[in-house]
Amino acid sequence: MADAVIEQIKQRVDIIELLSEYLKLQKAGSNWRALCPFHHENSPSFMVSQDKQIWHCFGCDKGGDIFTFIQEIEGIDFPETLKLLAQRANVTLAHYNPSQQDKKQRLLQLVNAAQQFYAQALQQSQDGEVARNYIAQRGLTDASVSAFGIGYSFDTWSRLKDYLKAQGYSDSDQAEAGLLIKPDGGGGYYDRFRGRLMIPLHDINGTVVGFTARTLKADETGGKYINSPQSSLYDKSHIVFGLFRAKQAIKKLNAALVVEGNLDAITAQQHGFPNTVATSGTAFTEQQLLQLKRFSSNLLLAFDLDAAGEQAAQRGIDLALQHNMNIKVVRWPEQYKDPDECIRADAAVFKEAIRQAIHIVDYWFMQASRDLQLTRVEHKKLFTQRILPKLAKLADHVEVAHYVQRLADLVRVDANLLHEQLAKLRGGKGNAVKVKGQGSAVSNQQLEVRIGRLGWLSIFWVSY
Ligand code: GTP
Ligand code: MN
Repeated sequence: MADAVIEQIKQRVDIIELLSEYLKLQKAGSNWRALCPFHHENSPSFMVSQDKQIWHCFGCDKGGDIFTFIQEIEGIDFPETLKLLAQRANVTLAHYNPSQQDKKQRLLQLVNAAQQFYAQALQQSQDGEVARNYIAQRGLTDASVSAFGIGYSFDTWSRLKDYLKAQGYSDSDQAEAGLLIKPDGGGGYYDRFRGRLMIPLHDINGTVVGFTARTLKADETGGKYINSPQSSLYDKSHIVFGLFRAKQAIKKLNAALVVEGNLDAITAQQHGFPNTVATSGTAFTEQQLLQLKRFSSNLLLAFDLDAAGEQAAQRGIDLALQHNMNIKVVRWPEQYKDPDECIRADAAVFKEAIRQAIHIVDYWFMQASRDLQLTRVEHKKLFTQRILPKLAKLADHVEVAHYVQRLADLVRVDANLLHEQLAKLRGGKGNAVKVKGQGSAVSNQQLEVRIGRLGWLSIFWVSY
């Protein structure tokens, strides 16, 4: 039965139309061609046959049909893929109902029911007043609260559990969905989230898969935020906060504005920066970057790169550079703690900060020279030691050449010498220097700028 359904879906979903949502496909004879999304490459070896409804990459040797493609690119399992594509094809899956899938559906429903319970508690309960006041104090509008599905969890041990039980959900399902805790030392299940502002975590399609919960107390001992644990529903490395609402704007503006805090992202979206997402205070993972890259290769980073979290942020930045993404750093006036504060004080100031965002490598140059005098020989050495390892991480050979020349000019040494040192740093991976893909989009927001004899450097800007 499943086979028949699969065939039916294949007939109804056009592979070119589907893959075009993820890739820039170009006609190549009777086939279509693109840069492979599953490995790093500079000239397209990913081929799609419309007639045969199959794809194959001659670079990494992956291949298959629409099902394998969606599984691979979305990082989801086969039953999920089937459901997604069945929906798209308008095919009902009456006969394909493995119990595993039933269970996932049940857990999703459960999380959804919890979200509604929390939202209602925020809107209507007397206890919810503390959260309503907090929301007002943070300047969040009703529209934002409703768009993100924000709620309130009662400061009691079993309000949610009892409510969901009455709806027919077992304690163990509730625990599996991350909503209840079972104490190690025995004893009954109790509500994980108590007395907190409940911010739902949505997957890219807008399905609620978990929560991040902010304390409403000034003297909280249990952590400012507590989150849903990893579960079969929620994998934090796959979720980009706010992306479900921001994705179209990211595509349209051709850049994602990235902030650290979830509440910064909500504030930013509310004040006219609809392309904002949050890292939720950790480094970007590969899956997160690939999700963003489906909508744009350009990232505007608006977080404090000087702070303690810099190391972690740097890992995410390195990863993005490896994926040939373009990065600019947004610096807002120092009197504001974070984008949230800046935007609420004056959104125009933040807009200007975005306009003046600088290329990540220019930012590195600035940072590395801040405490140095480049007229002094030992400082020249120090500066070079700081910068070269960073340049070694760039994937684009034009960018590397451009910045090596800049470094050479600043410290007044021969660029060839620096190139030699760079080759050593790359540890024999000399040919790791790569050229950016041809045919990248040139729009009013993305220009390839010619730099002397060196070639083309990709820059971008965003106007709201
Ligand atoms: P506000 O303090 O309410 O403005 O929150 P914020 O979202 O701006 O958070 P902040 O800038 O302090 O931290 C950035 C992100 O790191 C948050 O959105 C959380 O995802 C995460 N984070 C911060 N504090 C905690 C914590 O105590 N526990 C966990 N698990 N995550 C945290
Ligand atoms: Mn904040």
